[in-house]
Amino acid sequence: MRAVRFHEFGDQHVLTVEDAPDPHPGPGEIRIRVQAASVNPIDWKIRAGYVREYIPTTFPAITGIDAAGTVDEIGEGVTGVEAGDRVFGLGQGTTAEYAVLSAWAPVPSTWTFEQAAAAGLAGATADECLDALGDLSGKTLLVEGAAGGVGSAAVQIALARGATVIGTASEGHHDFLRELGAIPITYGEGLAERVAAVAPSGVDAALDAAGSGSLADLVDLAGDASRVVSIADMGAAALGVTLIAGNANATGTLADVSRLGEAGALTPRVEATYPLEKAGEAQAHVQGGHAGGKVLITV
Ligand SMILES: NC(=O)c1ccc[n+]([C@@H]2O[C@H](COP(=O)([O-])OP(=O)(O)OC[C@H]3O[C@@H](n4cnc5c(N)ncnc54)[C@H](OP(=O)(O)O)[C@@H]3O)[C@@H](O)[C@H]2O)c1
Repeated sequence: MRAVRFHEFGDQHVLTVEDAPDPHPGPGEIRIRVQAASVNPIDWKIRAGYVREYIPTTFPAITGIDAAGTVDEIGEGVTGVEAGDRVFGLGQGTTAEYAVLSAWAPVPSTWTFEQAAAAGLAGATADECLDALGDLSGKTLLVEGAAGGVGSAAVQIALARGATVIGTASEGHHDFLRELGAIPITYGEGLAERVAAVAPSGVDAALDAAGSGSLADLVDLAGDASRVVSIADMGAAALGVTLIAGNANATGTLADVSRLGEAGALTPRVEATYPLEKAGEAQAHVQGGHAGGKVLITV
């Protein structure tokens, strides 16, 4: 099969499209014929070697950890899914013609494969963060980094759970946040004043989906570290904030994301799509740090 592989750590130019052995699912896994894979920040961090101590890489490695496509092989012990089903989910080496998924959910009937790929890691992570923040009905949630893949999914899921959502983004993304139903403000210095202007009673909880160093401010705004979660601030534990990582309940969170999609409450925004041959450009786009929604690679 054709796959986007790298044989050493480096910049986006180490990625090449080449022939690779077809993968096959182990127990509890499925294989899909990939239609689209998303580009997550972790992809370029793995490719650059930045996270090699936590996430070991064996070369040659296929980039990508989520995708959407059609089931074509089913591993031992898997029930509830058939060849031909449209699914999206998490796996390894997903930027290829075939990929093995370890957790998945049905593609909502209203979504394209691209939208489904966009909802993989980002959707599952957003859902897990909001689960960790407890009942949000009637509460006000601040999302730092609300226009990104995780942030924009979190905004929609929190609204579906009955929250009022304030989201930070650069001004160019404020219309996008308004379309999602959030109250947009800019991030950076003076955040507390801007939050106070739109939420005079304060915020009940905060999600740091940016890891930009503002976590202590988010704790001050939410009033207690237990009302804040982060997905990207390695100093979270020192502040008493839960760092969400690893997608421990991916089957459950992906099912939730799929249900919300089917109900029309969650529509992933695709900012750009690239062909396999331009996977390096796609990762550079995400590495720029200002995606509005998701960047995808179509297969
Ligand atoms: N722990 C986990 O399980 C997990 C899972 C997924 C992602 N992550 C991590 O979470 C982070 C976000 O992931 P993502 O996929 O959502 O990234 P993304 O789609 O690339 O989005 C990044 C967003 O960050 C915003 N941003 C940039 N500078 C900012 C700042 N100083 N303050 C606030 N927001 C800022 C950008 O908004 P503007 O364009 O408007 O500036 C952009 O929308 C990454 O570090 C990623 O590695 C962790």
